Amino acid sequence: MGQQAREQWGTRAGFLMAAIGSAIGLGNIWRFPYVAYDNGGGAFLIPYLIALLTAGIPLLILEYSIGHRYRSSAPLSYRRIYRPAEAIGWWQVAICFVIATYYAVIVAWAIRYSWFSIGQQWGDDPNGFFFEEFLQISDTPGMVSGFVSGVAWPLIAVWVVVLGILALGVRKGIEKANKVFIPLLVVLFVLLVAQSLTLEGASEGLNALFTPDWSAMLDGGVWIAAYGQIFFSLSIGFAIMVTYASYLKRKTDLTGTALTAGFANSSFELLAGIGVFAALGFMAHSAGTGVDEVAASGIGLAFVAFPQIISTLPFGGALFGLLFFVSLVIAGITSLISIVQVIISAVQDRTGLARVPTVLLVGGATAVASILLFPTHEGLYILDSFDHFINQYGIAMAGLVMILVFGWLVRRLPVFERHANAVSTIRLDRWWKVALGGITPILLGFMMWDSLRSELTSNYEDYPDQFLLVAGWGVAIGAIVFGIIVACFPWKRADAIARADAERLAGAEDAEVPPELDAPDRITATDTEAGDNTKEGDR
Ligand code: ALA
Repeated sequence: MGQQAREQWGTRAGFLMAAIGSAIGLGNIWRFPYVAYDNGGGAFLIPYLIALLTAGIPLLILEYSIGHRYRSSAPLSYRRIYRPAEAIGWWQVAICFVIATYYAVIVAWAIRYSWFSIGQQWGDDPNGFFFEEFLQISDTPGMVSGFVSGVAWPLIAVWVVVLGILALGVRKGIEKANKVFIPLLVVLFVLLVAQSLTLEGASEGLNALFTPDWSAMLDGGVWIAAYGQIFFSLSIGFAIMVTYASYLKRKTDLTGTALTAGFANSSFELLAGIGVFAALGFMAHSAGTGVDEVAASGIGLAFVAFPQIISTLPFGGALFGLLFFVSLVIAGITSLISIVQVIISAVQDRTGLARVPTVLLVGGATAVASILLFPTHEGLYILDSFDHFINQYGIAMAGLVMILVFGWLVRRLPVFERHANAVSTIRLDRWWKVALGGITPILLGFMMWDSLRSELTSNYEDYPDQFLLVAGWGVAIGAIVFGIIVACFPWKRADAIARADAERLAGAEDAEVPPELDAPDRITATDTEAGDNTKEGDR
């Protein structure tokens, strides 16, 4: 198999758009508003901001620096830092596989609901319509017992679009798609929020969301929720940002881009909170109840509460529904692309296969798993369990292990600090290492311990043991086992690259390295100086 030069983003703006596209997803629109409301309202914004500054942006910078420095997928980059760390990379690849399978089906529901909102096909019982008529869910969780065609065909369409974009490549596919989708998403969402704010009762919703409950600040669970939200929402801990940054040109402002992406994501999240709660305020006002009675989380918010709001609107319901569900589709697709790209890039590095066959093989396999599991009568239960376990014991735990290994075990944070400083406008200093190596692992460690404790005392959602063993623990532990097993296989190309890395560090500039995996760059040759080392290989 011939080695091609590693793909690159066309422009920094293109990369920024893709990074923002990955971050802004279902988590921003349906997760943030309720998490904020449920965890102290206005007071939640303080732990949220602290989580963003101490964990979100520092980890984003670490992931960007790893990807940018090694120009490889997560497993190969980690292996080049520390041989056994390759397992963390494959663990994150497995996490992305699991998330991609169920994330796609939510996008598929949103596609159907964009259409349903035109004629308000849910009638006067959106709850019954969603669970019984549309999803046709079984009474109890268990083995897949039959397909639901109304969910299967939009799901197939989602996969065709996503794999089509991925097959076109980083610049022609991912970058172009994000350049179109993200501005469109912002326009649609601003229109939605504007329409929400004109509704009667909107201010009641905003009061409910933003009235601070200061006592929440003393509740450990609120801090856990803030850190959890930042991880999922910023797409950190699942190797997406390592992968995306590996296609950057040498001369790229890493810290400035991380700050822009982080604040853009949080601004969108806040906008979503305002839009969703203004609409919930309207619903409560119309029903003559309190906002607490109508505020729902996750799936219930998007597919039950919103249809109710749409039906209650005196006029413009179809437009409101279209704006909401099309926004969900766009936000979901741009995030899904980034999640699947993690798998594609890892397999490409491992096998040397070109992009299109890899997309067909690996993307195709992910799509098949998704189509076999989720448009089924039991799909919703499986989704719920996958989502809970892979978030709690996948993303956040992988993020924690990454920090412990790179920060504490092999002590590479100073190397990445110098790397980021060598190419960035905003320089990192001690706070970055303190936040990443000190504050974040302590808080994340506490978070893990606390949620494991409650997980072991009662079954999640009271699902049966056997179901949770397979669709919960099985998936979370299976991802770790997969990572360890794959990392145990010999990898000749990676060994050659590691030797070349070592030779380079020893000053042998002519070491042989496949061009697409060009070295820890020339910055590493000296590795001690911060300065402008960006001339090589840049355009
Ligand atoms: N960051 C993506 C989201 O918020 C995964 O949904």
